[in-house]
Amino acid sequence: MIQEEVIILAIESSCDDTSAAVLRGRKVLSNIIAGQKVHEEYGGVVPELASRAHQQNIVPVVQSALNHAGIAPGDLDAVAFTLGPGLIGSLLVGVTFSKALAMALNIPLVQVDHLEAHVLAHFIEGQHPAPPPFPFLCLTVSGGHTQILRVDSPFDLHIIGNTIDDAAGEAFDKAAKIMGLPYPGGPLIDKLALQGNPEGIRLALPRIPDLDFSFSGLKTSFLYHIRDHLKENPAYIEERRNDLAAAMQQAIVKSLIEKLILASKKTGIRHIALAGGVSANSHLRKTVVDTGREKGWTTYIPEFRYTTDNAAMIGIAGWFKYHEGIFTDQLATPYASASGRPAGNPKSSG
Ligand code: KG4
Ligand code: ZN
Repeated sequence: MIQEEVIILAIESSCDDTSAAVLRGRKVLSNIIAGQKVHEEYGGVVPELASRAHQQNIVPVVQSALNHAGIAPGDLDAVAFTLGPGLIGSLLVGVTFSKALAMALNIPLVQVDHLEAHVLAHFIEGQHPAPPPFPFLCLTVSGGHTQILRVDSPFDLHIIGNTIDDAAGEAFDKAAKIMGLPYPGGPLIDKLALQGNPEGIRLALPRIPDLDFSFSGLKTSFLYHIRDHLKENPAYIEERRNDLAAAMQQAIVKSLIEKLILASKKTGIRHIALAGGVSANSHLRKTVVDTGREKGWTTYIPEFRYTTDNAAMIGIAGWFKYHEGIFTDQLATPYASASGRPAGNPKSSG
C-alpha cells in the first residue's frame, strides 16, 4: 500500500457534536455529525447533558461513518481523536472510545488538538485548487476561540492574536440569547441579518491594541441598546430583530477584519485562511473575499461542512501526524484549555 492510502477513523467529541469520519489519505470517505438539540433551550451547552448525549451517540455515529465509507474495522490503519481543548466530560467519551477501539484492533492512536484541526481542515482533498502554502495566516473563529495564527508547517502554528475575553461565536450566541433566540444563535443571526439594515443602530466597537480581540464590551453595548429601547417600545426586539442581527454581525465582522488586515500588514503574509464555526457566517466569508481582492490576498474559505465541528478535520490533522510517526499511548488524558495542553502546538509567540 502506498503511504497516501492510509485509512484513518477520526473521532471528535470536544463540545456538543459527536462526529466520526473515515479518510483514505487526504480524501474524506464519510463524515457523520450528530448534533445535540438538548442545549437549545438553555442558551448554551450544558456540559453534563453533552457528555451523556455523546455516550448515546458515539457507537451509532462510528458505525454510520464506517458504513458510509464502506470500510470494515479491520481495514483501519489508525484511530485519530480530539484530546482537547474542550469539555472534559465530552472529550472523555471520544478519548476512551478511541483508546478501546485502537487496543482491540491493535492499531496506532493519534491525538489531535481541536484548534489545530480547524486550521488543517484546509488540507482535505478537493476543497481548494491547491491547499494554502506555508506560511499562511488563519483566522480561527469558533464558539470557544478567536485567534489569528501564523502557520509555518502542519506542526508549527503560532498564535499571534487572541481574544482577551469572549470568543466571536460567543458574541453571536449571547446576542441571540438577548433577543430570545435559541442556541446556537450564530446561524440564526446570519439568516436574520440578510433581511436587516444595520444603519442607525450604534454599538460600541472594541478598541484593543495590536492583534488581540475583545467582544465582551460589544455584547454589553448590545444589551444596553436593547434595554434602553425596550423602555420606550416593548415590541422593539420583534420590530427590529433583523436590523439588530445585522448590526451585531456587522460589528463582529468589522472587528475581525480589521485585525486580519493588520496581521497581514505586520507579517507580510498574503495567503489568508478562515476556520472554525463562525467561518460559516456569510457576511464574514464575503468580507474576507472582498478584502482579499482589494489587498491582493489569496483567500482560503472552507467548505461549509468543514467550518463547524466535524471529525474530518481531526482525520486530516491525524494524517499529518501519522506520516511523521507521531503516535500516542493509552495514557493520554484530555485537556480543557489550550494552556493545559501537553507541550506542542499551537504555540503562543506573543
Ligand atoms: O467550531 P464550532 O462548531 O465549535 C467550537 O469549537 O466552538 O463553532 C460553533 C460556533 C457557535 O458559536 C455558533 O453560533 C457559530 O460557531 N456559528 C456561526 C455560524 N454558524 C456557526 N456564527 C455566525 N454565523 C454562522 N453562520
Ligand atoms: Zn471547534
